[in-house]
Amino acid sequence: MARTAVSPLRPPSAGDAAAVPSERSLDEQRAHWGEAFRRVRGETEARAKPLSAEDQIVQSMPDASPAKWHRAHVTWFFETFLLKEHDPAYKTFDERFPFLFNSYYVAAGPRHARPQRGLITRPDHDDVTAYRAHVDKAVERLIETVPENQAARVFEIVEIGLHHEQQHQELLVTDILHAFAQNPTDPVYDPAWQPPPTTQGPRGFVEVPSGIQPVGHDGEGYCFDNETPRHDELIANVRIARHLVSNGEWLEFMKAGGYETPSLWLSDGWATVQAEGWQAPGYWRQQDGQWFSLTLAGLKPVDAAAPALHVSYYEADAYARFAGKHLPSEAEWEVAARANVIADAFGIAWQWTRSAYLPYPGYRAAEGALGEYNGKFMVNQMVLRGSSLSTPAGHARLSYRNFFYPPSRWQFTGLRLAEFG
Ligand SMILES: [Fe+2]
Repeated sequence: MARTAVSPLRPPSAGDAAAVPSERSLDEQRAHWGEAFRRVRGETEARAKPLSAEDQIVQSMPDASPAKWHRAHVTWFFETFLLKEHDPAYKTFDERFPFLFNSYYVAAGPRHARPQRGLITRPDHDDVTAYRAHVDKAVERLIETVPENQAARVFEIVEIGLHHEQQHQELLVTDILHAFAQNPTDPVYDPAWQPPPTTQGPRGFVEVPSGIQPVGHDGEGYCFDNETPRHDELIANVRIARHLVSNGEWLEFMKAGGYETPSLWLSDGWATVQAEGWQAPGYWRQQDGQWFSLTLAGLKPVDAAAPALHVSYYEADAYARFAGKHLPSEAEWEVAARANVIADAFGIAWQWTRSAYLPYPGYRAAEGALGEYNGKFMVNQMVLRGSSLSTPAGHARLSYRNFFYPPSRWQFTGLRLAEFG
């Protein structure tokens, strides 16, 4: 398949692109959700378009999924939680698909083993395309025809499904970059891709508003349940870095022996460095004394001025110790971002915080299968804030809580520092 010069990654922005005022008429709401559904579904296909059918099969590690699986799984989500529940006329596309494309919803039935998703050559790429078209048609018809007394619940699930699909759009890109990183020919996802611009200006640290501060979603627009309830946090006297840690700063850490100095590392982090042989961020490679990194546009020289990407929590924590600083807590990050005192909060790198991924005070997961969305993962992971260069437009917000395991570094993950006193 010929590589196209399309640039499917639109610049992300903070805000809620799918929000709709409730005072709109039913017809206006139907039009709104129909348009939002087509737009988000189209973005998934735009991101898959540069990939051949072969590209779309590969699963390079258990944490990553094939692009074909992402395209099918987000479709299964609408089929399972929207169409089968709320459209009596819906005809299941293929009875074998729910087993293949359920991810982790125990209440939705048995499922194929996650590490073996890359072994599924059939249904093939075209079958998944037909599955998407079948579900698209049914969802659009439901949006157009749902009776008024069921419309609010249907639109609510459409909205959840769209935000869910946007999360998988990000993963589709990060997962294929990981797959390409295993290929000695350094494949190019999008030759027109450019790193996002960063904010210039003085570096250094700025005050975070201190005292008792509200944290969590403010009720305006969409959020996932893990962003609630909004609650108060006590913020100490802390300053936060205006900018993200750069590749140049990371190179200083490497030159100073950061990866060879156990005293800089958490015990689990040092064990991971040893086991994985880490000497640099993910996708970095040294050739003739110069560092290169595999990007979405292929192998490129590491730009010292650009933010460091593909570092794990363990590495972010070790770097902060090396620099004599800390990672911010997620509450400090959110209060600083709300006060608009930090640069590059969104659209470049998810930023590790020192906060464990835990429920907010009073959090309760929803009843039923959709209650499995976030709550059951609240152990052993760390929170990241902001959004990355791969996050779809309209998906980021100030209260958004992303979470990954401490060794994970195949996402576009970076850091900013904080200092106390
Ligand atoms: Fe999912």
